[in-house]
Amino acid sequence: MMSTAIAPKKPQIKTALPGPKGRAIVEADAKFVTPSYPRPSFKLVAERAKGVWVEDVDGNVFLDCNAGVAVCSTGHCHPEVVRAIQDQVAELIHMCGTDYYYRQMPDLAKKLDEIVPVSRPTRTHFANSGTEAVETALKLAMHATGREKFIAFFGSFHGRTLGSLSLTSSRAAQRVGFKRQALDVVHVPYPNEYRNPFSAEDCGNGGAGEGALSWIENRLFKTTTPPEEVAAIVVEAVQGEGGYVPAPEGFLKGLRRICDEHGILLIVDEVQSGMGRTGKMFACDHYDVKADIVCIAKGIASGLPMGACVARADLMDWKPGAHASTFGGNPVCIASALKTIELLERELVANSAEVGGYLKRGLEKLMTKYDCIGDVRGLGMMLGVEFVKERTTRTPDPDLRDRVEVASFERGLILLGAGANTIRWSPPLILSKENVDVALEIFDEAINASVSEARA
Ligand SMILES: Cc1ncc(COP(=O)(O)O)c(C=O)c1O
Repeated sequence: MMSTAIAPKKPQIKTALPGPKGRAIVEADAKFVTPSYPRPSFKLVAERAKGVWVEDVDGNVFLDCNAGVAVCSTGHCHPEVVRAIQDQVAELIHMCGTDYYYRQMPDLAKKLDEIVPVSRPTRTHFANSGTEAVETALKLAMHATGREKFIAFFGSFHGRTLGSLSLTSSRAAQRVGFKRQALDVVHVPYPNEYRNPFSAEDCGNGGAGEGALSWIENRLFKTTTPPEEVAAIVVEAVQGEGGYVPAPEGFLKGLRRICDEHGILLIVDEVQSGMGRTGKMFACDHYDVKADIVCIAKGIASGLPMGACVARADLMDWKPGAHASTFGGNPVCIASALKTIELLERELVANSAEVGGYLKRGLEKLMTKYDCIGDVRGLGMMLGVEFVKERTTRTPDPDLRDRVEVASFERGLILLGAGANTIRWSPPLILSKENVDVALEIFDEAINASVSEARA
């Protein structure tokens, strides 16, 4: 139980951050844990959490607008999720679904068949993380098409294992030291409407989305990447780690058309944007597009490790032994996922749309106050605020972004950066309007203090 009120109205910061107990843990971590984790400059040392509130080891209480990086979709330790996990743990923890059967696997696969943006019937392969869901998708695409090339987008993040790393391109730090990429992937600029990377010639009258489609058809296909050698195009419907950038209208439909014309598979990575985060169950649903393969993880099981690759059943016809995972689709994780989906369908997808809209309007209001906010964008509770030196030049201001992140934390609001100069808002989908008012007040103060610090 939290030592403070279980549901305080505001964060409660009592010590320097981190406090003495927190500092000791950070020091031990620095000694024994890999330094490769990309931790931000503030240090949160969590002890317990409930709903939208996180208490650290020194008794400070934070309002969480990051949800463990878009994972705790139903809030921390939702009582119904906790009960579902506890009940399952008492019955069956592990049996290895690759060799034996248990009812949870078909139960969740059947539920996913009902809700994913893929033409039915589908089949599901279960794994433990986002990167594994992507690895499955890559292997399946190669297996189903007999082709080896992939097209992905700059700014994308699909994971850090060697296959998915070949797609990932949101920062050099993810790549440096690992030499040549394992797979044959060519990258295309992502159609970021705020920073359109294409020339007018590429775009026709269609803006960034048209530019990216034209780049693929008129440059790649005619030079380095003949379409008949491409297994799949892999895309995030809303770029996550790249800065919370939604695909422009018409872009995914354009990719669908290109794929259909050339027998290429469309893999949509919904690891971050899925499971209600954007105010619909999947981001693809906003664009009325169906993928051939969808990758899911993060929010699907409220914090237990679960990845799922859902594909058209006719594609997933590989033979026993082609792909499997000892822990993937563990019954405890599935129990949590089934309860999570029940809660999402019951109320949380709708809350994500409604309260996310309220949050977005509040952020847009802050944009009228601060010239350093260049862009507010996103869908549902997947919102990005991009910081610039001034709005007219749109020059990125990563230092200011970092200062705002730290200043928010010092005031008890957990937010995390995405991309070079954007703050992402990815709160638990239970966030209320009252929580939003508190968060926006803190964010306003944090921006004000960070801008003044820059001027001083
Ligand atoms: C879109 C996307 N795909 C894949 C991944 C990798 O997921 P994991 O860290 O669970 O391997 C992430 C993680 O941030 C992601 O945002």
